[in-house]
Amino acid sequence: MKFRKIGVLTSGGDAPGMNASVRAVVRTALENGIEVVGIYGGYHGLIHDNVKYLTARDVSNCISRGGTFLLTDRCDEFKTPEGMAKAIETCKKHEIDAIVAIGGDGTFRGATDLTNHGIPTIGVTGTIDNDISATDYTVGFDTAMNTVLDMVDRLRDTGESHARCLVTEVMGRHCGEIALLTGMASGAVAIAIPEIEFDEDACIKKMAELRAKGKRNFQIIVSEGVGGIGSGFGENLAKRIEEKTGIEARYNCLGHVVRGGDPTLRDRVAATRMGAKAVDLLLEGKSNLVVCEIDSEIVPVDINYSFVLDKMYKNKLKDGDLDAYSAEQIAEMEAFCERKRAYVRELYDLANALAK
Ligand code: F6P
Repeated sequence: MKFRKIGVLTSGGDAPGMNASVRAVVRTALENGIEVVGIYGGYHGLIHDNVKYLTARDVSNCISRGGTFLLTDRCDEFKTPEGMAKAIETCKKHEIDAIVAIGGDGTFRGATDLTNHGIPTIGVTGTIDNDISATDYTVGFDTAMNTVLDMVDRLRDTGESHARCLVTEVMGRHCGEIALLTGMASGAVAIAIPEIEFDEDACIKKMAELRAKGKRNFQIIVSEGVGGIGSGFGENLAKRIEEKTGIEARYNCLGHVVRGGDPTLRDRVAATRMGAKAVDLLLEGKSNLVVCEIDSEIVPVDINYSFVLDKMYKNKLKDGDLDAYSAEQIAEMEAFCERKRAYVRELYDLANALAK
């Protein structure tokens, strides 16, 4: 056996299902004779030695709970050489041989830094945004979307009663998938996401025509990334709609409420499979990987490859980013990005076509 003791932490924005991943990590490791140290409060906890040994009983009853009992943080200190040195010291003090880091892309950057400093680390997805290009799915996405759906269904009731337009802004950072899927599933009349330019004139024209034909209730879902986070796009859109169509419009921002709540079955299963896989990979002597779900299989992807793929998908590649990759790998990445863009486009067009 390569490892005697591993650490597990959750970092970045909390996501429903993180607890289920921790449970899977702890019990898979213990089953293989590996001790588990829970690191509390993400990388901040690693720097400041906030740790506790975890037993199988310590993770009882957490599979059904939202948030993360290991607590979390967005830790700038970890990006400094001093922070990293302290984190390594904590690993040495507790003889932590490897770490499973559960979170989103910021967490995976930390994971790669740890691996580069001699602590093999594996990343497990835990973010509501579904914004890690290498994986079809990130833990927390399904629960968050179901929460949005529940809220928008409520807004539909009031929209119908008052003959109003409800513009709802949802989280997702720079990724519009929460808005796209919930927009489709809630029968929204329009969806605005960062990936596709929003045709506001067409939206307003359509709404005016539909109102003339007797439509009372208009739901619009806006992803927070449209126009840049904090740009006020959703709120201003509601004002412009009212001005130009005469349809009374109200704006709601769902915000952090979407991050809470008990994980759905989808999230518990994905989290469990991913957490267990992370330990299996460490046992195989592997590291610097992110555990992904691709075509329903739980598979590892190199973390750096995943970063580059993300940049390519978001058109943010810089000179030199592709230097480490073969022509075949680059072609594979390009094909992947094309498929993903086509998928987003297809859903967007279908949702729009059915909004009548
Ligand atoms: O990444 C998860 C997420 O909820 C994003 O959707 C959102 O933009 C961000 O975190 C909010 O971060 P914070 O909780 O630090 O305000």
